[in-house]
Amino acid sequence: MTERQQQALQIAIDGPAGAGKSTIAKIVAKKLHLFYIDTGAMYRAIAYKALKSGAPLNDESKISQIAKTTKVVLDHSDERLVWCDGENVTQAIRNPEISRAVSVVASYQGVRERLVELQRMEAKRGGVVMDGRDIGTHVLPDADYKIFLTATSEERARRRWVELSKAGNVVTYDEVARDMLKRDRSDTEREVSPLRPAQDAIILDTTGLSVEELVAEIIMLTQEDES
Ligand code: DC
Repeated sequence: MTERQQQALQIAIDGPAGAGKSTIAKIVAKKLHLFYIDTGAMYRAIAYKALKSGAPLNDESKISQIAKTTKVVLDHSDERLVWCDGENVTQAIRNPEISRAVSVVASYQGVRERLVELQRMEAKRGGVVMDGRDIGTHVLPDADYKIFLTATSEERARRRWVELSKAGNVVTYDEVARDMLKRDRSDTEREVSPLRPAQDAIILDTTGLSVEELVAEIIMLTQEDES
């Protein structure tokens, strides 16, 4: 791959919560020298701002207005800091309260329009690995590679529970599994840009596969086309 091709390379990684998107996307981005864009973090930052402002979550126009006026910045250092109107919200956006609120916020057209605009602007800065729910179908429909990661719901809930527990959250596996199921349903059934694989996506089931195996498979895909 020439440097020029690499600078314009777009890899879209979509899938439900806990499918391994961010872990895989981060490593692939590093190995291929691309920017990593975590679009879920952007929706989470808006959910954080909405909760902080005290706006009722069912007030679509207010929440859309918050999305339009909030400055969300993703830092590209190894720390992957997330800034929301100058506040470092990297940790705060991962808590279960935000996870519960975010799928409501992400279902609003005004919120999505604003964030998709930001995501496309990020993609203009150079080659990217972008993960989310609608990257291959909507945000980057001409992406060079579209990967849709899945895993059984038990495996996904187990991964998320381990992640949350490690970060010091006191939650049971059952709570995590219940919240995740609810969020999956909302993400899949919403009217605007629902979660689904793009027609030309490669679907990879990550259940039982190691991070190394998955990364190798994706890197191989990008190299197959070169030969
Ligand atoms: O990937 P995540 O769990 O951090 O995503 C948080 C929420 O944001 C999730 O409920 C789905 C939503 N989301 C979305 O609707 N579209 C995206 N491109 C990314 C995330």
